[in-house]
Amino acid sequence: MAGVRAGLVGVGPVGDAIVSVLKEHHFPLSEPLRVMATSCRSEVLCGEEFLVQETCERAFQGLDVVFFAGREGAKGASVQWAECAMAAGAWCIDNGSDFRLDPKVPLVVPEVNLDAVTGESKLIASPNCSTIQMVVALAPLHRVACVKRVVVSTYQAVSGWGKAAMDELLAQLPQYLAGGPVEFDPSIFTRPIALDCLPHIDRFTESGYTKEELKMVNETRKILSEPDLQITTTAVRVPVMVGHAESVNVQFERPLSAEEARAILAEAPGVVVIDGPTQDPNALEIRKAEGELQYPTPADVLRPEYRDATLVGRIREDSTAPNTLNLWVVADNLRKGAATNVVQIAEELIARGLLPA
Ligand SMILES: NC(=O)c1ccc[n+]([C@@H]2O[C@H](COP(=O)([O-])OP(=O)(O)OC[C@H]3O[C@@H](n4cnc5c(N)ncnc54)[C@H](OP(=O)(O)O)[C@@H]3O)[C@@H](O)[C@H]2O)c1
Repeated sequence: MAGVRAGLVGVGPVGDAIVSVLKEHHFPLSEPLRVMATSCRSEVLCGEEFLVQETCERAFQGLDVVFFAGREGAKGASVQWAECAMAAGAWCIDNGSDFRLDPKVPLVVPEVNLDAVTGESKLIASPNCSTIQMVVALAPLHRVACVKRVVVSTYQAVSGWGKAAMDELLAQLPQYLAGGPVEFDPSIFTRPIALDCLPHIDRFTESGYTKEELKMVNETRKILSEPDLQITTTAVRVPVMVGHAESVNVQFERPLSAEEARAILAEAPGVVVIDGPTQDPNALEIRKAEGELQYPTPADVLRPEYRDATLVGRIREDSTAPNTLNLWVVADNLRKGAATNVVQIAEELIARGLLPA
């Protein structure tokens, strides 16, 4: 039977989103998706019940592609199982960070650098969620005006940590509202996340930057093929369930006005510009008269028309530095930041005849 035999390792929020995106994109599966995790059980993903297998060598036999959405590190899913899946003949597309900076492994955002997929490596890495949405917005501007320096601060949803962090925020909110002590699991965040902002994502390194901040630096350089790009980051966890936002200050080699950037981004693949005078029919007349602008927020990524897009607003010139713009960039970390990106990569493999259609 024609179509792709696909596997999924990991049934957290990213695994769940991969199932949703495969369904919505009518991804041509020739047999039911083979779902794996650390133990055998049944799980409901995107409203459908799946029999989850314990991940083992045998489970990869006969698969054409495997989406990895497991944990990272030595005991993580792709470190433990990607070799095995490739030995069984499957392409592996990994959401985790373990192989992203390996020079032999392409690190791919389909709107930006599909040419990195050469077929030499059957393992393809998908970048960090914060990196993906930033490079989708930066790449079209980079092609025209050449990015020189980036200063980015992120506002990252708790789902970026995984399901346990989403459960923790939900459990903490009533405790906070009741005015009592707010309990927290220190293996997730270092203090309660409910109605607070924590400038701490992943571990601290000797440089004072966190690993999350350095991922954005190194991955952006690799994806844009600009190893010396100047980029400095502050990654902040905020009490939002889904959807990361970023304030991006970007300096270019060549002049680029806000108007030109708006026009370029309006045509850019995967980008939706939400900028200019407010279109909100409920906006107060007085605010419209004062020139209120529209802008995207993380809540917008739940709207069906924006679910897979990178939303850009607040495009404006920075009067304190030459050739410099400020942007506000928002996307769904579970979808464009993970699931949509890996499914798009698999769709490209089909388009190139590297996976059976
Ligand atoms: N969340 C995001 O916004 C986001 C964005 C981009 C990339 N990512 C990356 O995507 C991956 C998944 O994220 P998530 O938030 O869905 O994580 P999660 O909630 O922690 O879920 C991880 C899943 O992977 C399974 N798993 C872990 N280690 C495994 C192993 N050695 N073998 C087989 N299965 C294993 C777990 O199995 P059990 O259920 O049996 O424990 C669990 O189902 C992570 O690498 C993360 O860094 C996440």
